[in-house]
Amino acid sequence: MTDLIGWELNKAYDGIHWWAAAASRTIGAIIPGLICALNVKSVIEIGIANGFTTQVLARGLQANGGGKMYSCDINEFACTLCKQFISDGVEHESICSDSGTFDWKSIIEEIDLCYIDGDHSYEGCLKDVKNCLRLNPKIIIVHDYAGGQPGVVQASDELLADWNKIVIPERGDTGDYACAIFQRR
Ligand SMILES: C[S@@+](CC[C@H](N)C(=O)[O-])C[C@H]1O[C@@H](n2cnc3c(N)ncnc32)[C@H](O)[C@@H]1O
Repeated sequence: MTDLIGWELNKAYDGIHWWAAAASRTIGAIIPGLICALNVKSVIEIGIANGFTTQVLARGLQANGGGKMYSCDINEFACTLCKQFISDGVEHESICSDSGTFDWKSIIEEIDLCYIDGDHSYEGCLKDVKNCLRLNPKIIIVHDYAGGQPGVVQASDELLADWNKIVIPERGDTGDYACAIFQRR
């Protein structure tokens, strides 16, 4: 079983469009393994842009035997673009809306992993983390945790103070930034 997951994971990295990476390539490389290790079956991503994290999240779900994924962006083009990055075995829905005003109660199932990389203001991130918490996730990944986004750090630390946290730093083309992986205790 473990070998099988390893094999599926290797395949998860084939042909990823790394050029599309708005998020750090480091977190992109970690995500499929994390999804398999923690048996994540459902994902919500807030902030699609070029669809880099859409790809790696979908690849991770596929490597773990499939699952359900929602991608949310305020930008209509991003909501359509990301469709091409969804792997077989992954049921996908785009939510083309402001994540702060979207009715998250319309998602009735629990979600294992939330990936937050949308509105980087304190208020925006606070709303996103609060809305994700309603979905009872095991993992919340917050991108741009640091790197000139103090609101993101403040909001996620406030609401997830009692969660385990690992911060993954990255030095990218546009400066230093980081990603925080919060795991429910
Ligand atoms: C940094 S990019 C996301 C990058 C993507 N996660 C990746 O790494 O490939 C941020 C995205 O969030 C979207 N966004 C910003 N504010 C938003 C909001 N309030 N609701 C939904 N999407 C938002 C932007 O349109 C943009 O596409």
